[in-house]
Amino acid sequence: STTPLAELIASIAVDIPDFPEPGVVFRDLTPVFADASAFRQVAEALAGSVLEDPRGAALRTGPDDPGFDVVVGVEARGFLLAAAVAVVAGTGVVPVRKAGKLPRSTVSADYTLEYGTATLELHTDSITPGQRVLVVDDVLATGGTLEAAIGLVERVGGVVTSVSVVIELPALGGRQRVAPHTVHALWTT
Ligand code: PRP
Ligand code: ADE
Repeated sequence: STTPLAELIASIAVDIPDFPEPGVVFRDLTPVFADASAFRQVAEALAGSVLEDPRGAALRTGPDDPGFDVVVGVEARGFLLAAAVAVVAGTGVVPVRKAGKLPRSTVSADYTLEYGTATLELHTDSITPGQRVLVVDDVLATGGTLEAAIGLVERVGGVVTSVSVVIELPALGGRQRVAPHTVHALWTT
């Protein structure tokens, strides 16, 4: 099934073959971020996706509650989305960063992604235990990045109520990797 927003994203995003290495088709979303209307629609749809999630909906306290207390975004493209979603929803935003960037006490996780390996970190005190967290990123590929980010949030006591991305590349199996968390994708290629 497709949606008008999926069609819009598909029409604006650009596929780059063999970037950053041979065999990878890179989905470049920067033109979507640069388009004022598309970017706003994406931010609103990611914020609203929580309400379609049974867990997110169940933990909602009322009609004005977006269903989460904080948005977590994964460096670097996830930052652009998380900040916009937080402003739309009226919440704060918390960064999950690549190793060595956060100045205070962190939890950390090594992970693999479609074209490499890295380490992600989260400030230990950035989420209050029990806080409801929406985790967002631009692309779900192998799911290694989101799996690591979700694990960090849970290690500091956050309750991941929803995981939302702009593009899902289903051939890479990321959805299965992130299970039992359900991923909401605005566009599944
Ligand atoms: C990209 C993308 C996701 C991740 C998805 O980030 O923004 O975070 O890869 O891949 P996976 O599902 O296989 O884990 P990248 O590490 O390239 O960093 P960037 O945002 O700094 O460009
Ligand atoms: N992150 C991991 N795989 C990707 C891809 N194919 N396009 C854009 N970002 C990605």
